Amino acid sequence: MVRIGEFAWAEMEPTEGRLDWEWLDGAISILADYNLKVVLGTPTATPPPWLTTAHPEVLPRDEHRRVSHAGSRRHYCPNSPVYQDYTRKIVTAMAKRYGDDARVIGWQTDNEFGCHDTGRCYCDVCLRRFRAWLQERYGSLDALNEAWGSVFWSALYSDWNEIPLPRAAPAEHNPSHVLDFHRFSSDSWRDYQQLQIDALRERISDRFITHNFTLFSSREVDGYDLAAPLDPVSWDNYHFHGTTPSILAAIHDVRWAMKSRNYWVMEQQVSNVTWAPYNPTFRPGEVGLKVWQGVPPGADGMVYFRWRAARLGAELYHSGLLNHGVRPTRGYAEASEIGQTLNKLVPMLEGSVPQAEVDLLQGYASRWSFDLQPHNRDSRDDEAFRRALMGPCEALWVRNVPVHILPACSDSDLSGYKAVIAPALNLLSSKGAEWLAAYVRHGGTLVVTARTGFKDERGQVPGPPPGHLPELMGVTAEEFDSLPPGRVNHVRFVEGATGSAPVSPWFEVLDPGAARSVAVYEDDYYAGRPAVTMRELGQGRAIYVGVLAGSDLYSLLLDWLLPLLDVGAALETRDGVEAMARVGPAGKVLFLLNHNRAPATVTLLEGTIDALTKEPMARQLELGPRDVRISTVGMDG
Ligand code: GAL
Repeated sequence: MVRIGEFAWAEMEPTEGRLDWEWLDGAISILADYNLKVVLGTPTATPPPWLTTAHPEVLPRDEHRRVSHAGSRRHYCPNSPVYQDYTRKIVTAMAKRYGDDARVIGWQTDNEFGCHDTGRCYCDVCLRRFRAWLQERYGSLDALNEAWGSVFWSALYSDWNEIPLPRAAPAEHNPSHVLDFHRFSSDSWRDYQQLQIDALRERISDRFITHNFTLFSSREVDGYDLAAPLDPVSWDNYHFHGTTPSILAAIHDVRWAMKSRNYWVMEQQVSNVTWAPYNPTFRPGEVGLKVWQGVPPGADGMVYFRWRAARLGAELYHSGLLNHGVRPTRGYAEASEIGQTLNKLVPMLEGSVPQAEVDLLQGYASRWSFDLQPHNRDSRDDEAFRRALMGPCEALWVRNVPVHILPACSDSDLSGYKAVIAPALNLLSSKGAEWLAAYVRHGGTLVVTARTGFKDERGQVPGPPPGHLPELMGVTAEEFDSLPPGRVNHVRFVEGATGSAPVSPWFEVLDPGAARSVAVYEDDYYAGRPAVTMRELGQGRAIYVGVLAGSDLYSLLLDWLLPLLDVGAALETRDGVEAMARVGPAGKVLFLLNHNRAPATVTLLEGTIDALTKEPMARQLELGPRDVRISTVGMDG
């Protein structure tokens, strides 16, 4: 299949009200001649010049109230009633034209909501809508003032019209105020997407509706919310300098968890991108690595981007399946081979899903709250939260232990997981704390880290950290220490796990009440004081990790915890070799991926069969650099 149309508004409607479908009809027919189906993107990420010229008020504004000008993409405010009107018209017109066209199998809303940090607009329409949103949320100014702690820095509001947007100001805004603005902004995109879905749904019968989430998109837009009315979810998988295989694996896990359903990759790069600081080509084998990495976590569709390298426009240096001379590239050759392999695998993969015994929790509001006040701002990376999440993720990934990354809300069913990890889940209401406590009471093992529950859902501190959790965790934090890059402490396990790991950058000095200290600090004035505690409640365990740490610490913890909980790995492999499986009615399909530039050896389980040749595989398997092998274990035929 081919996805088209997502930036083609100016061609669909060259001047206001004059619709031209001839070229699109032609394109769909040519594709049909080659037996290719179409996913149509709504074109709203690129408002045409006639629209922004006649209605400059649709352009978004930044924190300084400066206009984000036309001439690029994503230059619109989702709350603009004018833009919403035009959106409704173009989407409805497309749906009327192609809604029951059998060649069009699905629809994509817009393109990468929130991409280029466009998730928040500070225009006057947003200001008015924000005030209305607040009225709806709080009902009264007293409630709002109370929730925001407006008394601080003399910001008690006595009229709804006094409430500003958190525009550029001399110092920090009230974080509860900003948090609500972030929630409002995210809701605005959810509602804007819904407007498109409503226009489509009644005219496209059972065709699917998806949205292509951007790589880290959902920094500003709550991905779980956006995903709710979609099926399948899809995302754009771009790898660039600094993106590790474990980060991409974690994003795959988030995409599955958005609906607890398999998903698609709507854009899979085939070599270099155009927009990163450095843009290396894909080395031989890299397309396969990226594509096959997505299958175990639940990708059911892979669409390459782009078909042909562009000779015009902003992405001239972007790779394609065809090059600028319209000749097949290395990526094309790899993609063809992948396609042939996939055809053979389909019967084995039919109905299969990613299975996991460990869940990580993340919540967008928590993430916003955390990043609003990171309390440790490493200038090399403004995404403090991502680092906190990747500590445990990386350690699990290295161990080939599959995870799900469910939303941290009490609708998420945790009962099937042997362990649940809540890294830096900054906001936790008393209801949320109760939900986690119930999981532990029913025998679950909960690991929460520093900063989890530090604030309640309003963004206020309910008590000594960890907020509403001390009773469950049996511990409180006496002090918290935030050190600059390069300053580390060490944490040594004294019970259960063994060994010592360097940790940075955020440390809590713990006061264990009902909990036992299982690891202590080794350096500084709190040497010997608890850094990790554990409390057993019946069959359940509540483990508190008082540091924000990288994977070193989690490696020690998991080497103790995973066997204790009988959590299995897909296979044990050495560094940089990923082994993940998808399990379905036909059995288990195991993907072995050598992310290294050097060969690697893997010891397979007895009875492993090569999925393609159906031959038994030798116990010692040699994988070349960036090699992928696919096998089955315990599958008939
Ligand atoms: C994506 C986007 C595409 C294209 C691509 C370039 O984020 O959806 O339209 O810009 O990046 O890598």
